[in-house]
Amino acid sequence: MKFKTLDEADLSGKRALVRVDFNVPMADGEVSDDTRLRAAIPTIEKLRQGGARVVLIAHFDRPKGKRVPEMSLAPIAPALAKVLGATVAFADDCVGEPARAAVEALKPGDVVLLENVRYHPGEEANDPEFARALAANGDLYVNDAFSAAHRAHASTEGLAHILPAYAGEQMRLELDALNKALGDPQRPVMGIVGGSKVSSKLDLLRNLVTKLDKLAIGGGMANTFLYAQGHDVGASYCEKEMAETAREIIRLAGQNNCKLFLPLDIVVAEKMAPGAPARVRGLGEVDDDERILDAGPETVERLGRAMANSRTLIWNGPLGVFEIPPFDKGTVEAARLAGNLAKSGKLVAVAGGGDTVAALHHAGCAEDFTFVSTAGGAFLEWMEGKTLPGVAALAQ
Ligand code: 3PG
Repeated sequence: MKFKTLDEADLSGKRALVRVDFNVPMADGEVSDDTRLRAAIPTIEKLRQGGARVVLIAHFDRPKGKRVPEMSLAPIAPALAKVLGATVAFADDCVGEPARAAVEALKPGDVVLLENVRYHPGEEANDPEFARALAANGDLYVNDAFSAAHRAHASTEGLAHILPAYAGEQMRLELDALNKALGDPQRPVMGIVGGSKVSSKLDLLRNLVTKLDKLAIGGGMANTFLYAQGHDVGASYCEKEMAETAREIIRLAGQNNCKLFLPLDIVVAEKMAPGAPARVRGLGEVDDDERILDAGPETVERLGRAMANSRTLIWNGPLGVFEIPPFDKGTVEAARLAGNLAKSGKLVAVAGGGDTVAALHHAGCAEDFTFVSTAGGAFLEWMEGKTLPGVAALAQ
């Protein structure tokens, strides 16, 4: 896909309507993780340097078309100002008089953040009239919210059909990294998919086995695969009703020459509690009252070898219950192995999805990865091979 980028735009004096994703974690009214704010800075700076008036549109949470004060974007404006090192004005509504007045007051290089776009039902309905009301305050539209691009909403999709539309810098980075990981990767390309449910990642697994040379399955969903192959999983989390689906994915992998890596050994415990006594077990050695909570050392070692023999890695989902040590060990070690390979230029390592990013931070190696996506749901849909409406609308 080809997009117009900001390098091609005449920015001077223009009102740039920028869709950003400021759906950030908050704790006690404060931003607790400013990754998505920092991700928006290159676009904002580029626009300011070009002399544009920067009008930021974003959503927070899911107010479902109503004003919900707890879901206001107001606390984000000072947090963004801090990261940007410049004043960020705030308008109490994203359309109508408050937005118009706030935008009119902007001088070239100034920035305003508009109130939660999801306070209006027209946003999620992708109502053309609402999109036109948003467009009234802009001369051009920039989509920098890859992480919201799986939503066909007025501010993520509709606006691109009304104003000259450009991909922002973060959008470009995300698309470029994802293309390197799955669109047109250096081979061999390997995937690691973890997390608990096979049922929530079915489309993703089906798509990946047709694209990848190797796929490692970890986390709770690996239990379902082990069960499907006839191994006892004791008291582990397991979607027994998905066993036939797991076997179908194993068959599909075989047909597509995708080598599957299921656990060789596992870490079990009777309780999923911090510091609970953990034991390494071989497959089929799990007692009735034991739960599989992590990948075992042999499994991690084999993953390390497989990564070392790959050129590209795409990772979504932890290998164990990484939030509860000692069951973080498998994920942490595998993440560090991947990080080291990426740091030394031997592997293009791309990761995404909320849990995955938290796991990489926990392992202290997020910085070592080639690219860590800011997206959760959008990253998954993209891995499923779906067209993201917000991206498609930017295509020329
Ligand atoms: C996200 O946080 O992943 C995006 O902002 C999308 O949010 P949504 O799932 O509420 O649409």
